[in-house]
Amino acid sequence: MTREFLPAGTAGIIEACPSALPASLEADAVVLFLTEGGVGQGVAATVDAALGGVLGRLANDGELTGRRYECVPLLAAQGLRAGQLLVVGLGRAEELDLGVLYRAAATASRHLAGRPRSRVAFLAEPAWTTLQIEQAVAGAAVGMVGQDLYRSEPKRTRFGTTQWIGADPAAVSRGSLIADGVNLARRLINASPDHLYPESFAEEAASIAGRTGLEIEIWDEDRLRRERCDAVLAVARGSIRPPRLVLLRYRGRPQSSGDHPDLAFVGKGVTFDSGGLSLKPSESMLTMKMDMSGAAGVLGAIATIAALKLPVDVVAGIGLVENMTGPAAYKLGDVITARNGTTIEVHNTDAEGRVVLADVLEVVRGLAPRRMVDLATLTGACMVALGHDVAGLFTNDQACCDAVAAAARHTGEPVWQLPMYADYGEQIKSDVADIKNVGEGRWGGAITAAKFLERFVGKTPWTHVDIAGPAFAEKPRPWTDGGGTGSMVRPLVELARSTV
Ligand code: BES
Ligand code: MN
Ligand code: ZN
Repeated sequence: MTREFLPAGTAGIIEACPSALPASLEADAVVLFLTEGGVGQGVAATVDAALGGVLGRLANDGELTGRRYECVPLLAAQGLRAGQLLVVGLGRAEELDLGVLYRAAATASRHLAGRPRSRVAFLAEPAWTTLQIEQAVAGAAVGMVGQDLYRSEPKRTRFGTTQWIGADPAAVSRGSLIADGVNLARRLINASPDHLYPESFAEEAASIAGRTGLEIEIWDEDRLRRERCDAVLAVARGSIRPPRLVLLRYRGRPQSSGDHPDLAFVGKGVTFDSGGLSLKPSESMLTMKMDMSGAAGVLGAIATIAALKLPVDVVAGIGLVENMTGPAAYKLGDVITARNGTTIEVHNTDAEGRVVLADVLEVVRGLAPRRMVDLATLTGACMVALGHDVAGLFTNDQACCDAVAAAARHTGEPVWQLPMYADYGEQIKSDVADIKNVGEGRWGGAITAAKFLERFVGKTPWTHVDIAGPAFAEKPRPWTDGGGTGSMVRPLVELARSTV
């Protein structure tokens, strides 16, 4: 199996090592995972014995609690060859899920990556499943990458080598591919919008496609015109940066049963959202380089699925525009005819994501996928409803939504479904066109946006994931320095796996 698909060195070397006595490990640091309630019987007990019972004593004194994401470094510990033992808390054993494990591993890595380390050894628990190993490995490889794209003195340094002691080599290698997908999405989200715009995003997609063996098609303005993607073109008109639509295809099914992709992903790729003529105030505009997080997530997911060689057929459609206020910008009152013939009256140029997705959903629907999932930083209203950490789910097919929710729960990314009652659809009726691009007032804004998208998916089972909250961390957390999170990459990979 491929070990990584990002340029060499992006996450250092990540390798599995056979079980070894923790005391004999030669590393800058050894990481031990600890649940609440003392050292118990697993790896922690072995380490405790090697250290002459020091962990047990610290636990009794309340210095070592095993609480979630607690990091306790034991420097130059007697009985250990490694420079330090870092004990990271997993919380209560009965509440340990894959998300907690991922974040705990990331917390330990982030802590240690504060200075250069040539070798860090993580102790895998023998009782862990291969899924647990995958997510722990992924978390560790994500946590050591910070927000250093433009810093002359980086705050985080990737470990030269990460060793996973006593872990299944295939699971370690899968975990490092999953981390590549998440880190790819994060890097694109964190990139300055002056560097990452529709054309350069499409070039990034092409280079990833080359590396992972994906088929790729890039539609430029001429092609978009010929394909009647006037909704994408309308939003793009205010910018000197021309739009792009990227289609990626991964064929992993052993025998192709017809040409129906098992899964389709669609991503909102607004590389910068100024709001257009309905201009955003400065505070809300500051982070709007992240408005392509859906596109980045979809690219990270399909690249990972290809690198993992999952036996599924997946297609991804990415709509790339910059929403600006240039002289040709689309205007309030404009009526746009979307690719599927629906006419859209523009009431607010800041509700641009749904307008772009209208055409991308229709293009992808035309490829007749069995299921379609879109990722979009679509509405501030979704953050009002669910807060920063929870993504909203909206669907026209409960089974499809349940599959997305199960995959998200499995990887520990919180999601919550919101209703799609027909009455919300009434709110987007227009006096002059088929629909308008906002609801009546702001109430239920995440749902009226989803009702808008629903007009473009036909009968295809579809789930819309509003990631406006979780896509971007404005403040650091124990497991991340902040910035792009790569949200929904792991769930989409899991969904592709559960689709086989
Ligand atoms: N990209 C924004 C939504 C957003 C807001 C994402 C905050 C992440 C953080 C979207 O294009 C937008 O501006 N939506 C408007 C819709 C409104 C004009 C109906 C919003 O949420 O205010
Ligand atoms: Mn907007
Ligand atoms: Zn937007």
